[in-house]
Amino acid sequence: MEKPERLIVDGKRLDGRAPDELRPLRIKAGVLKRADGSAYVELGRNKILAAVYGPREMHPRHLQQPDTAVLRCRYNMAPFSVEERKRPGPDRRSVEISKVAREALEPVVFLELYPRAAIDVFIEVLQADAGTRTTGITAAAVALADAGIPMRDLVAAVAVGKVDGTIVLDLTSEEDQWGTTDMPVAIMPRKKLITLLQMDGHFTGEEFRQALSLAFKGCEQIYEAQKQALRERYSVKREEGE
Ligand code: CDP
Repeated sequence: MEKPERLIVDGKRLDGRAPDELRPLRIKAGVLKRADGSAYVELGRNKILAAVYGPREMHPRHLQQPDTAVLRCRYNMAPFSVEERKRPGPDRRSVEISKVAREALEPVVFLELYPRAAIDVFIEVLQADAGTRTTGITAAAVALADAGIPMRDLVAAVAVGKVDGTIVLDLTSEEDQWGTTDMPVAIMPRKKLITLLQMDGHFTGEEFRQALSLAFKGCEQIYEAQKQALRERYSVKREEGE
């Protein structure tokens, strides 16, 4: 797609959303039979699957920590998830995203309850349209809860940014590509603590405050959908006597 002249016309974005509007969001918990916990999230055109295995014995054993479990996180983009085929396997970007996703999730998990164990989190991007790290974190938090792992809080995440001089919530890839600023944020919604904050581009101090407050509002909405997905999951489990 060629760069359109303007990304916001009469207060509406290219996909018709208002600046503070999230894309359509759908979350389902417990979608993979063999994983200990799993979740599938669609946010606009993003389609992301998260799977959790563990707590289980850490291999290789020299990575075991005597006083805590270790959270391991792998973010991966399917070759068919983006317009131009993504070469399979890890690259600089996926190594970075795996690291920041782990750091965004670590503070909510009671890792100290499982010395020597590993908890493995896999984030698989099936279809990407910007905001995959944040949507992946949102999915992973639900998958961790679905695995029954004790947690202090959930983690909800979304990107905010600046497009045509306007602060917007939840950028699409067009907005990410042609906008001036992209700021992914993850929060612990109950405790109102930030566990991820990255920024590509610039904000003035005032813009930053406005963007952060918009990110919190977006995360609140995502948090409600996460809780709803977990409630649905557990009512099905009860019915099936699982
Ligand atoms: O996905 P996220 O916004 O967290 O990360 P990004 O590095 O800012 O990537 C933005 C978007 O660029 C992705 O979500 C994809 O839609 C697109 N992308 C792509 O088309 N091909 C890649 N190899 C990587 C990203």
